[in-house]
Amino acid sequence: MRRKIIAGNWKMNKNAADAAALAQELAVQIRTNPHPKVDTVIAPAFPFLASCTQAISGVPGLHVAAQNCHWEKEGAFTGEVSVDMIASTGATHVIIGHSERRILFGENDEMIFNKLKAVLAAGLIPILCVGETLEQRRNHQQAIVVAEQLEKTICKLNYKQEEKIIIAYEPVWAIGTGMTASPEQAQEMHAVIRNTVSLKFGHAHSETQSILYGGSCNPSNAASLFACADVDGALIGGASLKSNDFIAIRNAMLNTL
Ligand code: PGA
Repeated sequence: MRRKIIAGNWKMNKNAADAAALAQELAVQIRTNPHPKVDTVIAPAFPFLASCTQAISGVPGLHVAAQNCHWEKEGAFTGEVSVDMIASTGATHVIIGHSERRILFGENDEMIFNKLKAVLAAGLIPILCVGETLEQRRNHQQAIVVAEQLEKTICKLNYKQEEKIIIAYEPVWAIGTGMTASPEQAQEMHAVIRNTVSLKFGHAHSETQSILYGGSCNPSNAASLFACADVDGALIGGASLKSNDFIAIRNAMLNTL
């Protein structure tokens, strides 16, 4: 069975005290209700990776992710953070290729591929985001766009590298808009992703690939999304900033198991 993953992307929210407090609250709740098939991931801003890692230390299945990284090991890259720096905080996952990075900060598939390789080389787990814009969906290009994003990144890796990666389908039009993809839309695109992985790496391998949905996932719509055959969890922005909402989404996943 594929691993189920509930990941919270805190984006540029919370200060040092609030980030540590939220991590502590989640640690308490998850410690009392762990599940061997479910991983929970929180992605605070860079300055709080170490304190959040400390706050969740020893809680089974709870992990810390960075929201981004640079692909070079070290050097004159003002303002950037390397994967070794991230690993040294105790964080274990890195979100790569989020649409906000692609659109607001000009990241292209080549940069995202370099980041993927760096994250894997550091022994960390990438959460690779893919997804189409509203215009691309209106032009019925969503399957082509997402397959191409995968072909330029994970499909260039080998089997051993690819099996470590978590993929998140995040339609850009659904992120932070309240316009959640319908379960049918999510399932259709998750199947496209699984099929792309299957064509490159084989059917058996694709069946082990965890694919998360992201884009206005909340406690009210999580259960219907998680009921889809190819949806293995969620990458959650807004609703991950409050422990009750995030835990409610995690509980929706636990109820499917
Ligand atoms: P959202 O963000 O849940 O606030 O829509 C999701 C994401 O950007 O990962």
